[in-house]
Amino acid sequence: MIIAVDGPAASGKGTIARALARQYNLPHLDTGLLYRAVAATVLREGLDPSKEADAVAACGFDDSLLADPFLRTDEVGQTASIVSAHPLVRAALLARQKRFAQQPGGALLDGRDIGTVIAPEAEVKLFVKATPMIRAQRRHLELRKNGINVSLDKVLADIRARDERDSQRSEAPLVQAADAVTLDTSFLSIDAAVQRAVEIVEKKR
Ligand code: C5P
Repeated sequence: MIIAVDGPAASGKGTIARALARQYNLPHLDTGLLYRAVAATVLREGLDPSKEADAVAACGFDDSLLADPFLRTDEVGQTASIVSAHPLVRAALLARQKRFAQQPGGALLDGRDIGTVIAPEAEVKLFVKATPMIRAQRRHLELRKNGINVSLDKVLADIRARDERDSQRSEAPLVQAADAVTLDTSFLSIDAAVQRAVEIVEKKR
């Protein structure tokens, strides 16, 4: 079974993906991390994320980078959404994601284009969403917990900017697959959202 989990930043898709992977014992790939690794490399090497050639040069990152806490920062997230709009960057990361999806025992992948581009054949497709304000509040809380002091307005503006870039790009934009089931987590607790996700999987498999 292949499970595809797509959705915007801070929608809850990461939490839901991890819980489903555990529940169904599937290997899990957080594809956002791949774009974040490219972004972190661009930033560290002083390259220009808006230049396709610079971003492509950063695609040969070492896998050990995927565990680096720097990848989780908002700066890297924003830069990831710039580098990920370049068609050649997406092409450079495509085979790896497709291979992961097609392993014999099945797989779970989360990102923006799993149900549409990486694994259109997935048996289960979830599109996780929540209102921009609720996503901003969640991210704001998380940042404050980590001792990062930033206003809610700034977090909301960043979320809107990232949504805009991710959904307007021409290559593999963030868009719900026609056969994906919507899971709106705006007014759900984490447990309730996970439970709902499990119900959706159970119905489909
Ligand atoms: O999910 P995460 O916030 O880690 O993703 C970081 C950025 O990587 C997203 O804003 C998006 O631009 C890009 N991304 C993508 N396609 C994916 C996963 C992430 O373009 N499958």
